[in-house]
Amino acid sequence: MESPPGAETVLDGRRYLYFGGTGYFGLHGHPAVVRAGVRAFLKYGTHSATSRAGFGTNPALLEVEARLREFFREDEAAYFGSGYLGSLVLAQALADRYDAVFMDEQAHFCIRDTAASPGKPVFRFRHRDPEDLAIKLRRRLTAGQRPFLLTDGVFPVFGRIAPVPEYAEVMAAYDGLIGLDDAHGVGVLGANGRGTLEHFGMKSPDLYFSGTLSKAFGGHGGFIVGKRRLIGRIRTAVGAYIGSTPTPTPIAAATAKGIEILLRHPEMRNRLRRNTAGLKKGLRSLGIEADDTPVPIVAWSMRTEKEMRGIQKDLMRRGIAVAYLKYVGAPAAGVLRLTVFSTHTAGQIRRLLEELAKIL
Ligand SMILES: Cc1ncc(COP(=O)(O)O)c(C=O)c1O
Repeated sequence: MESPPGAETVLDGRRYLYFGGTGYFGLHGHPAVVRAGVRAFLKYGTHSATSRAGFGTNPALLEVEARLREFFREDEAAYFGSGYLGSLVLAQALADRYDAVFMDEQAHFCIRDTAASPGKPVFRFRHRDPEDLAIKLRRRLTAGQRPFLLTDGVFPVFGRIAPVPEYAEVMAAYDGLIGLDDAHGVGVLGANGRGTLEHFGMKSPDLYFSGTLSKAFGGHGGFIVGKRRLIGRIRTAVGAYIGSTPTPTPIAAATAKGIEILLRHPEMRNRLRRNTAGLKKGLRSLGIEADDTPVPIVAWSMRTEKEMRGIQKDLMRRGIAVAYLKYVGAPAAGVLRLTVFSTHTAGQIRRLLEELAKIL
């Protein structure tokens, strides 16, 4: 990639109409985001060269946390190195409140890496299956034990949303906790872009999530928002937060600007919704299965890798880039995966559909 990711993106020297990745609002190359980064670079250099346990807190990091509080309307926010670390930070911060971890069998790599870290037993349940969760809870827990459920809020390959209301119902009997890796939900889902929980209209002291700033928000790094007690625990007891150099300062400043733009321009979310609905409708008319949620991701699989690579290549010849992926949650042969942005025009979406219709 030789330009910022956007509706048009330069790959290997050629400009493509781009339907890949996770830059859902095209903020990564937004002039105000870039300017904020450049200004901070000149003022602060690369980063603090000390962790936040020392002198490592700076105005750019604080601004990210202030914007997160504003965006999510929460008391406190903790900003750390990556979205990938989010589940780990959450699982460790809550470690004294549960006895066993239950994770979706297709959970993201970061949840798999996380699950065993607090040193409690880990059990898997079938993908997006509350009934199987109920069976596993019944079989695996002894009286009085409290479970912690870890799952993606939105699964990255097919863009499917976890059935959180059904999970909450099952978990209630055990007074269980739920933690979502909402990397693809935050900024996108819910009336205010607050993610999967807002999408379902859910709020409870037993529901938690982590998010990333590298996708919808156009920046980089991970975060958790919540009550003072939870965030205080992250700041004082979680190694990944205390013991690492914070996000490079220019990137933190750019990230704060990305959050601010999305906060001040709700119309961007409306455009993304419109584009998502338009693309999914068009794909369905081509015989591709696409659900009707507002997640701007569609993926489908074909019999062989060769077939899918052939389609990808054909589209690229026509100036359109879509991803062929092997990733957690994809079938062994892989998938073709499309994402749509708020910055795609109706004409660009039409062009993708027309070219696909010629190939499929
Ligand atoms: C579901 C999910 N969780 C976490 C991450 C990691 O986030 P980040 O790249 O911001 O570290 C990704 C992908 O990047 C993802 O798809």
